[in-house]
Amino acid sequence: MENSLDTPGREEVDDTVSQQDRVVSEEEWLKKWQLRNIGFHNEEGHLLLKKYLDIFLGGRNGLKIFFPLCGKAVEMKWLADMGHHIVGVEISEIALKEFFTEQNLSYSEETVPEIPGAKLMKNTSGNISLYCCSLYDLTSSVAGKFDAIWDRGSLVAINPCDRERYANLMISLMNKSCCYLLVTVSYDPSKHAGPPFYVSDSEVKKLFGQCCDIKLLEKIDGLMERHKAWGLDYLWEVMYTIVLK
Ligand SMILES: C[S@@+](CC[C@H](N)C(=O)[O-])C[C@H]1O[C@@H](n2cnc3c(N)ncnc32)[C@H](O)[C@@H]1O
Repeated sequence: MENSLDTPGREEVDDTVSQQDRVVSEEEWLKKWQLRNIGFHNEEGHLLLKKYLDIFLGGRNGLKIFFPLCGKAVEMKWLADMGHHIVGVEISEIALKEFFTEQNLSYSEETVPEIPGAKLMKNTSGNISLYCCSLYDLTSSVAGKFDAIWDRGSLVAINPCDRERYANLMISLMNKSCCYLLVTVSYDPSKHAGPPFYVSDSEVKKLFGQCCDIKLLEKIDGLMERHKAWGLDYLWEVMYTIVLK
């Protein structure tokens, strides 16, 4: 991995003991949406996406951009308004309905023949297509491949035991020139069970390093009041670019 930044207070911590066996079920995620336990949602859009937009887009127009575990991320509307085509996947129908409603977009629903029980929700102009199903049901034969992937709150929400499966799926969805921007979080995992789960630099390298070049772009202080309430005294957000070798 290139460019390992030396940030005080962010030594690699051993997460193997504290978080490795933790599993959050799909039902628990659905409940979080029902109970409005969605502190992860960021109304403003992520400042690192804004900062590294030129790297993400690489001067390309009309990109097909993937949002895994999209929730109701406002960046989907933001990038669609720039002329890109957005594809997201999210298990919670509440999240997707709220996205369209809050962004003042009318939408239609259709079934997905390849995925029993799944719904595809599309805005009227057809540039935002959101699958309501489990991420693991989506394959490149259903969704095709992508020019760019925005992964914030996604790898870090995946159960640690499923990370390898997740990384392999992401790699299978990348086209040759895909720019995958990944945001992880780093904190003391003995103080919070997750999600979000702590994902170390070496874990990112282990998951993607064989097929991809990984570059650490920036680490920023992401500690907020809700993190302090979990008992954390530091939390870094770490942004990487991942491209196929
Ligand atoms: C931490 S939130 C992040 C949402 C979004 N990326 C953002 O930045 O606001 C993780 C989301 O993943 C969804 N989720 C969890 N497991 C999933 C799965 N297996 N397939 C699809 N969505 C899932 C949850 O419902 C939740 O909305």
